[in-house]
Amino acid sequence: MFEALSSLPPDAILGLMSAFREDPRSEKVDLGVGIYKDEGGNTPVLECVKRAERRLLEQEDTKAYIGPAGDEGYNERVGKLILSGDLSGVASDRVSVIQTPGGCGALRSAAELIVRCGDETTLWVPDPTWANHVPLLGDAGLKIRTYPYFDPRTSAVRFEEMAACLGQLGRSDVVLLHGCCHNPSGADLDRAQWDTVVELARRTGFTPFVDLAYQGFGDGLDEDAYGVRQLAASVPELIVASSCSKNFGLYRERTGAVLLLSESASQAAAVKSQLLSIIRGIYSMPPSHGAAIVAGILSDAELTTLWTDELRAMRDRINSLRSLLVARFQAKGAGSRFDFIARQRGMFSFLGVDEGQVSLLRERHGIYMVDSSRINVAGVNSSNIDYFCDAILDVL
Ligand code: LMR
Repeated sequence: MFEALSSLPPDAILGLMSAFREDPRSEKVDLGVGIYKDEGGNTPVLECVKRAERRLLEQEDTKAYIGPAGDEGYNERVGKLILSGDLSGVASDRVSVIQTPGGCGALRSAAELIVRCGDETTLWVPDPTWANHVPLLGDAGLKIRTYPYFDPRTSAVRFEEMAACLGQLGRSDVVLLHGCCHNPSGADLDRAQWDTVVELARRTGFTPFVDLAYQGFGDGLDEDAYGVRQLAASVPELIVASSCSKNFGLYRERTGAVLLLSESASQAAAVKSQLLSIIRGIYSMPPSHGAAIVAGILSDAELTTLWTDELRAMRDRINSLRSLLVARFQAKGAGSRFDFIARQRGMFSFLGVDEGQVSLLRERHGIYMVDSSRINVAGVNSSNIDYFCDAILDVL
């Protein structure tokens, strides 16, 4: 049977992890996978996580099954993190939150739910979008199309074209929006643009589906949720995929949630029951550990303060690296070519070099980034910033 299968190339993003590991050069620089790194190039476990884990170790009294919806305490707290304490004014019986294995589990189970709603639906994703969105969502059987999003000439959102495209959609369309820190471009919608998207969703009836993988990594926990909260307050139906990988640093614990907003309480109950049956059929129930940590942090005022401080430190480091990169490029004679880096948010930016130059950077200088020239800004630090900038100017 297996002879029918041929080998596939490594994943465009994850493949960079092993290529980097195998590179023997000491000066190599990893700007590939989207994982936060500190000044020393490490991805440490947050102190709030360590403390919550210690408590968990002492207090956890069973490893019995948790059920397809996961931990209800976690679900309630994550719902409030996304929509704010007052759920953006939405009646709580219209909202369901279900723990998932990471943001990917949330995206995939939501895609399966959309498929169950009927085969007329088209999912619209931004051009470009995260490289794994199309395989992850398309494998559920969804028809996928793209809407204009990033303009490489201006390194900003092509908002007029985006709005014109969304304005043509209707009730059988679902629109995937990056809640903040657009992956891969770093170019986000501003508040006025979000307001327009909300208005378009109300007028045309498309269903917004927000991928909120980086809440707290852009401008702040509340600031980064502006779009999703405006949508929740204004539209009848909304899907949100949220992740604790980045903001709690829980990458390998696979901790996420899907939030579903329905038009009425009875519809919410039906939608939740469908999602639970989908989950039972795919992975049965989510792993417990990461969600127990998050619930432990968010239910304790002291740990919550520690977490928001640690999150702020990660965000501030990324945003100051953005300014530093612009200043270094300018000082090295690149003019204003890279000024856009400071206007973008989150871990990623496109450098705007071509695939041949990306290969040259890898081969000649040991600098690893995705072929699209997406860099993980957090991989830059004071020991490699000059080497990195000089190498970019060399291949240009
Ligand atoms: C990324 O975009 O690099 C991260 O979200 C990691 C991944 O799974 O691709």
